[in-house]
Amino acid sequence: MKNLNQEKTPFFTKLKDYGESDVVPFDVPGHKLGRLPNDLSAFTGKGLYQLDANAPRGLDTLSKPTGVIKEAQALAAEAFSADKAYFLTSGTTAGIIAMIMATVSAKEKIILPRNVHKSVINALIFSGAIPVFVRPDIDNNLGIANGVSLANMKKAIDDNPDAKAVFVINPTYFGVVSDLKNIVDYAHTKDMIVMCDEAHGAQFYFSNLLPQSAMAAGADVAATSMHKTGVSLTQSSILLTKGNRIDNAKIQSTLNMIQSTSPSAVLLASLDVARKQMYFEGEAGIKKVLKMREKMVPKLNSIPGVEIIDETYALKRGFDFGFDSTKLVIKVAEMGISGFDIYRTLKDRFNIQLELAETYLVLAIITIATTKSDLDRLYQALKTISDENYEQNQTLPKIKFHYNFPETYVRPREAYHAPHKIVPLADSENEISAESIMIYPPGIPLLIPGEVINTQFLEDLDFYQQSGSVIFSELNNGYVKVIDKENWHKWEDSDEL
Ligand SMILES: Cc1ncc(COP(=O)(O)O)c(C=O)c1O
Repeated sequence: MKNLNQEKTPFFTKLKDYGESDVVPFDVPGHKLGRLPNDLSAFTGKGLYQLDANAPRGLDTLSKPTGVIKEAQALAAEAFSADKAYFLTSGTTAGIIAMIMATVSAKEKIILPRNVHKSVINALIFSGAIPVFVRPDIDNNLGIANGVSLANMKKAIDDNPDAKAVFVINPTYFGVVSDLKNIVDYAHTKDMIVMCDEAHGAQFYFSNLLPQSAMAAGADVAATSMHKTGVSLTQSSILLTKGNRIDNAKIQSTLNMIQSTSPSAVLLASLDVARKQMYFEGEAGIKKVLKMREKMVPKLNSIPGVEIIDETYALKRGFDFGFDSTKLVIKVAEMGISGFDIYRTLKDRFNIQLELAETYLVLAIITIATTKSDLDRLYQALKTISDENYEQNQTLPKIKFHYNFPETYVRPREAYHAPHKIVPLADSENEISAESIMIYPPGIPLLIPGEVINTQFLEDLDFYQQSGSVIFSELNNGYVKVIDKENWHKWEDSDEL
């Protein structure tokens, strides 16, 4: 039974009334609700600017909500089966930083997989936490990292009984989920907080055809990108909390430290209406797109050189806790073309934009806004590429994916603050990195501050560079920032935080 209260959009409604009223705006923003036309408003209409209010009387304040934002967040909490929901205007990035900073202090341990997003590494720098990395399942056939096994998580928990929290990705970029419920239950028996990165899992809250959500599994806190797999505007996410292990006042004050004092009302309104839309249309919408996908998968699989990676595959690798079928993981290596090339060709020649590419595969994300004709066009384009390129037994050469993540020498926070120097990558072996280096997307660092640079990292980086991937690093010009060991006293041996 749907709760009809969810029809309400308290923040959006009040914001719209305000924008349409005859208000005389002597406050910021300077565009004064779009009085002066410009190129952007010529495209979007004045409405976008009319909704872009800052914090006028009656519209509530994100940092201390008592009115329509409080009401909108309470409706979101209910829709996501959480106790509390916090609207985020800096993406799940803000939620992840806030949840780690608010719960794990400097020199306290947090157990987490190494294939985390860069926001998690940045959160470790902010909080000063000690990471205890757990090796995820490494899939050499696909060249990706998956979830973490319950056994590996349990071992890390047993080996580190003093850890404060456990962090789980639900799901990974490629749709794999870990045994979240059992990880949560085990961590809770040891009094550890369980936090989830649900940047790719907002849809789990609205369909029982998909894997279990973090809140349903009993996690204490989760950050979900409503803008990625829900239907809100880019940068709008929601932080959810449940139970009494989380200090909600500290979550709010931490969010107030890291988010702007001028949060975008347009983003907040988009969260309010997206919550309503997902609540009422999510279940049927997801059912419909999963049906479309089910019909399309055999067609895609019939294209020579194409293989769809799905739950059967995940199951074979021991991940039988469900698979997120809204992720269309397409293995293309048997066409003799890399995922990176397919990604470029699909956009440049067919105007089809995928989410990301890896060496052997590409990823398409399906949401309730995906149409059958979108899938048809993807099929046609892949068929054309295959017709032009496929030759039997012409698979891509096997590449050895190492994923032997570099050894951690000091905490990311210490490496970040240590005196540093710049050295050529070619001379950097055995130096301690003072920066993160990653391919983007997905934004999972190959190297993080505090890790020791080794040959494998240098070879992997070179490989990704040759394949035309976008590498994110501070310098990006053949150099790397490392700790200047000669001028550094190691904090770990001192009281410094
Ligand atoms: C696994 C993962 N976590 C967190 C984030 C950060 O989310 P957002 O872009 O909403 O800040 C991303 C973004 O790509 C991600 O892929």
